Amino acid sequence: MAPKSLPEALCREAWEAVVAAGTLADAARAMGVSRQTLEHRYHEGRRRFGWEDVLRPAFSAKAYEEPPRFTPPELADALEDIEAWLDRREGEFARKKAAGDARKWMEFTITENAPFALVFVGDPHGDDDGCDISLLRRHVALIEHTPGMFGVGMGDWVNAWVGRLERLYGEQATTKAQGWRFAEWILGKEFWLLMLLGNHDLWHGAGSPLRWMSRGHAVMADWQAKFQVRCGDQVWRIWAAHDFPGSSAWNRLHAPGKRAALTGHDADLFIAAHRHCFGLAEQQDEHTGKVSWLARAKGYKVADTYAANLGYGQAQDRGHSIVAVCDPATGRMTCFSDVEEAARYLTWLRRPRVRVPAVAA
Ligand SMILES: [Fe+2]
Ligand SMILES: [Fe+2]
Repeated sequence: MAPKSLPEALCREAWEAVVAAGTLADAARAMGVSRQTLEHRYHEGRRRFGWEDVLRPAFSAKAYEEPPRFTPPELADALEDIEAWLDRREGEFARKKAAGDARKWMEFTITENAPFALVFVGDPHGDDDGCDISLLRRHVALIEHTPGMFGVGMGDWVNAWVGRLERLYGEQATTKAQGWRFAEWILGKEFWLLMLLGNHDLWHGAGSPLRWMSRGHAVMADWQAKFQVRCGDQVWRIWAAHDFPGSSAWNRLHAPGKRAALTGHDADLFIAAHRHCFGLAEQQDEHTGKVSWLARAKGYKVADTYAANLGYGQAQDRGHSIVAVCDPATGRMTCFSDVEEAARYLTWLRRPRVRVPAVAA
């Protein structure tokens, strides 16, 4: 509150100084008083006597209309240009779709018009102490030396433990490096038509060494493959998967059977592996007459601590691999749970046959 004794003359003197100088600071400097004193007298005079405010605005109207601007630096963008990214993504999707389309019922052609067999080799788990390695070697040798036999690997080639499961290397004699050496040995065989990757193999994702080992001599597929094999005038369709969805405590073939039923028996053979138990059945649809086989290969991990701890039985002594023998002369597929028996049948089927010409009546 200004003292009422402030004389009008002092107030007017201050007001007039501001009129002359335009600013409080310049007016105070001209009068030889402090800025605070001058400001006090100026406002007191205006308050008491109603004088006009003659202070110049701090900013001009023009300054408000055109605020100051700045020029930013030109910075390189770490992200890809959006149009270039969209173009690239279109190309990626086109390649992915074309690759998927090419694998729908991919066709293999047997070059010789004669009976042949596909051996669906069950989970080897070749580095596991519980793998029956002598049986596996015998079956591998049979496929190698039986004319007309080809292999389809059902996956889980090695344990290849990852993450928390790597502790299980402490429960097996074979090292990780030796396990990959085994994989190199078995994948290097020339009889492979097709190889699947099971859960143990897919743990390694895109970087799995198995993908490199198989390159150039066999088709490799993640988890499952739908394919057909042409020989002479006949074509057989096969849907092989490390496993199909679905399970039943009462039926080891529930999952492949479900897939067959839900797809209208769209293949001659639906075969799985993975659960380390075996089953095999031939069925014929009572409405369409379509014949199809359902199978599950047991694999070679016959002494399975994990299965034993969970209470599963391990007395099955066949079905480690499932063999489908196909005869182009009849169009029939016949499946076996024993590789040796299948090899004998195939060899017999391929025997030289004497063809007796029809006698004219
Ligand atoms: Fe598996
Ligand atoms: Fe397995």
